[in-house]
Amino acid sequence: MQNFISLEQIDLAAQAIRKQISTLRKPVVGIILGSGLNDLADSVQQAVRIPYSNLPNFPVSTVHGHAGRFVIGELEGKPVLVMQGRIHYYEGYTMGQITLPIRVMQRLGIPSLIVTNAAGGVHPDFNPGDVMLITDQLNLMGMSGLNPLMGPNLDEIGTRFPDMSQAYDRTYADLARKVAKENNVVLREGVYAGLSGPSFESPADLRFLRLSGADAVGMSTVPEVIVARHGNMRVLGLSGISNKANLDGSTITTHEEVIEAGKVITPRVEKIIRGVLRSL
Ligand code: HPA
Repeated sequence: MQNFISLEQIDLAAQAIRKQISTLRKPVVGIILGSGLNDLADSVQQAVRIPYSNLPNFPVSTVHGHAGRFVIGELEGKPVLVMQGRIHYYEGYTMGQITLPIRVMQRLGIPSLIVTNAAGGVHPDFNPGDVMLITDQLNLMGMSGLNPLMGPNLDEIGTRFPDMSQAYDRTYADLARKVAKENNVVLREGVYAGLSGPSFESPADLRFLRLSGADAVGMSTVPEVIVARHGNMRVLGLSGISNKANLDGSTITTHEEVIEAGKVITPRVEKIIRGVLRSL
């Protein structure tokens, strides 16, 4: 595959999906489920499941804890397209490939995105099991030359130099705060820093991130949100804090820990997503 995804490639995948969901209502919200948070997709009603491997040009998720398919149907009565598992840059795909699902959402006419992830808590008060509303992001991958919008601009979708001053929609954020309160879910807030991974951060990395204003750190989301904003989608972001960043190197971080924490986090994130969907 060429380095940059073309509109033709995007439309081929979008068309393949359209054919399979023609009897369903058109999805109005895209939802990306992060590591350990995949279970929500199982409660989608009238679900049509489309493995990424059945779609032309699609990368396939190789990570334990990521199912790797679209689940399209209804949640809280709203037509949704759920990504049960996402694709990460560290799996060896290009930035264009890992954000292809967002492009497909845009060509399907989906105006809103709810993005979730598992993240390490960098803010000293954050603990495993916490849910954090993402208020902004640190594009560390982009700062080192890995921006998903590099290459020919897709003028049909968005402008060459998209604004990122409000990457995360403020109205959606307010809605999430309200829903969290109504459901007695403690909602932290902060800045998500996106790194490529797959190695976890060193204590020095983590001290750097804290000084840079990061509250949580993970290996996804940032490229997806940039591509979503390029096409003017409105974004709500939620991080499940799966582990505490260890700034002095006295404990280790494992993927098993991340998946395990997802069990506590999933019902909390689910309450917020369901409440937000009900209000839309
Ligand atoms: N660092 C990076 N990504 C992560 C972490 C972490 O500590 N926890 C879950 N995803």
